[in-house]
Amino acid sequence: MGSTKSKLIQLFKEQEDYLSGQRLAERLNVSRTAVWKNIKELEKEGFVFESLKWKGYKLLESPVSISPSEVQQSLDTIELGKKLFYFKEVTSTQERVHALAKEGYPHGTVVLAGEQTAGKGRRKREWSSLKGKGMWMSLLLRPPFPPAKAPQLTLVAATTVVQVLREFGVTAKIKWPNDIMIGDRKVCGILTEMQAEQDWIDYLVLGIGLNVNQNETEMPGELKKKATSLYIETGVESAIEDIVSCLLNRFEVELGRFYDKGFLPFQQEWQSSGYKTGEWVDVSTWKKPWRAKVTRIEEDGALTVLDEQGQEQRLYSAEILWNDHYYG
Ligand code: BTN
Repeated sequence: MGSTKSKLIQLFKEQEDYLSGQRLAERLNVSRTAVWKNIKELEKEGFVFESLKWKGYKLLESPVSISPSEVQQSLDTIELGKKLFYFKEVTSTQERVHALAKEGYPHGTVVLAGEQTAGKGRRKREWSSLKGKGMWMSLLLRPPFPPAKAPQLTLVAATTVVQVLREFGVTAKIKWPNDIMIGDRKVCGILTEMQAEQDWIDYLVLGIGLNVNQNETEMPGELKKKATSLYIETGVESAIEDIVSCLLNRFEVELGRFYDKGFLPFQQEWQSSGYKTGEWVDVSTWKKPWRAKVTRIEEDGALTVLDEQGQEQRLYSAEILWNDHYYG
């Protein structure tokens, strides 16, 4: 069940002609004043209506920015995205979610931004977040499991992103631990930040940055060769709202599966989408880089590799150099 605003948008999209206030009120089972108030709110979000005294309202333009109402209209979740904030510009959606978490906002709260001026990547790298061109989103999660399971949750998010991209027409691979690649170029990065005690998680901020509608020239210089977008891969522009709702719908289901059954059900899926499985890569831990063959992902989310001596090694936080293709 969507909000009155989302139902209004739906009605306007179904019918391109004018809709009278009376008819809208009847269809939505609300008063004419409520219809008027909701239309005024939509105008503030960037929707443009023409209003003619005897005919009613007609939707002329939808906003270029992301419309929270449109996202919510397509959500069939119980928790994720029920509280959803959209900001035209923020430093980082991660920061916004940290602030909301401290104010006590619930599990599933989502922050989306049109543009990030200081988007954060893993290991304090910058994340390029061009205005209106990508899905810059952070989720507030308050999971019922101990901090040690948090890295697995990121892997679950990665498998969900791969499913969503498949739905949008591309086959992507997961570069351990949490980059999503199309071919050898990165399309999406995931950043998990956690506020926790020794044995319980206060909250997690799961940030997902997905390049959606950038063309080749819009990729910053140093990323041109290393990054790609859904548009570059398919030649089709996608509505960011559709990607967000698809992702939240799927992620809520997958999160439930992870709570019930742990990482085991995801192991196979992850394995079949693993980037460079069976190939030799450079692993950089505290010692100098060493060669290793990627073999499999373990039930606890660790990556098992084979070193040159034929010994299996489990990696938890090593930075794999992935032969020069890394960017974050
Ligand atoms: C990485 O690949 O290093 C992780 C990138 C994560 C980027 C996303 S965009 C939304 C959220 N807000 C941020 O500042 N970072 C994450």
